[in-house]
Amino acid sequence: EQTIKILAIESSCDETAAAVVVNGRDMRSNVISSQIALHTLYGGVVPEIASRKHIEKINQVIAQALSDADMTLQDMDAIGVTYGPGLVGALLVGVAEAKAISYAANIPLVGVHHIEGHISANYIENPDLKPPFLCLVVSGGHTHLVKVTDYGTYEILGRTRDDAAGEAFDKVARAIGLGYPGGPKIEKVSHEGDPKAISFPRAKIADGVYDFSFSGLKSAVLNYLNGCRMKNLPINQADVAASFQQSVTDVLVDHARHAIREYHMDSFAIAGGVASNGVIRAAMEQMCREEGVKFYHPSPILCTDNAAMIGAAAYYDFIAGKRAGLDLNAVPNLKL
Ligand code: KG4
Ligand code: ZN
Repeated sequence: EQTIKILAIESSCDETAAAVVVNGRDMRSNVISSQIALHTLYGGVVPEIASRKHIEKINQVIAQALSDADMTLQDMDAIGVTYGPGLVGALLVGVAEAKAISYAANIPLVGVHHIEGHISANYIENPDLKPPFLCLVVSGGHTHLVKVTDYGTYEILGRTRDDAAGEAFDKVARAIGLGYPGGPKIEKVSHEGDPKAISFPRAKIADGVYDFSFSGLKSAVLNYLNGCRMKNLPINQADVAASFQQSVTDVLVDHARHAIREYHMDSFAIAGGVASNGVIRAAMEQMCREEGVKFYHPSPILCTDNAAMIGAAAYYDFIAGKRAGLDLNAVPNLKL
């Protein structure tokens, strides 16, 4: 069997990341330089700061990824890079870097869709996972229910109409004084709370059964908090966090269950930053057991942004003959 070694680069948001992945599944290194501490000062990602930090870090992150893998640039068969969607300035750093390496070292270039990367994170630790399968991508920017019909071929069954699931976590966290990034903080305090304490809405959308909406839930939480403050009632942060998280979990599980039944899928995967949430993961696992389907999920470190997932996706694009030229550009609103 042929061995394809890919150097992957990811810089779409606030992580500068590089990885070496062999044959799409074998992760040899995975280096992530997180900017979270920097952006926490401002309560969210500041695009201009993100771009500048990527420029500062990218060379050293790539060098580390190659050295961790015990390989050199000359060993690489391709360079895979995220070219969208994401912050345009942040994406441009990775794209320009990848093009420079591709040109200088004469290595083929493959442009990768960020969401395709998140989905492909599942290939790394699950050698038996093969399309077709259903995947729920829940991140800070996206909430997509996707049917993966083949490698590189996707059918979007549903998407969010407003806020992404991770965005809702981040906004609610801010409202209850937990700060950025909200997801992990809400999960942590939710363990001390009662998920049934407050009944928040579970949004149903009449047409387009598989679409999501989280802005109503976010407003319900804000209204609840305002009501408590006006009536001088105490706010139990842990109960709000746990109840909000339960509402998101119920909606995600409900949509996934219906799609599994309608599309007769026997494998279901989750992906994206929110997929690292233990409560959501446990609920999905339980639902999959009830439905008799196999459940897949990446390790938490492969759920949030990383380059190994880009290397996995790039491999399947590469063997399908897809190549990018030196005219590859960042596409901030790239569609799947
Ligand atoms: O996939 P990701 O790293 O970046 C995007 O592509 O958006 O996802 C980041 C999002 C943030 O909104 C963050 O709050 C959320 O994932 N997140 C979580 C958890 N860890 C990260 N949400 C819920 N529970 C978590 N444990
Ligand atoms: Zn992401």
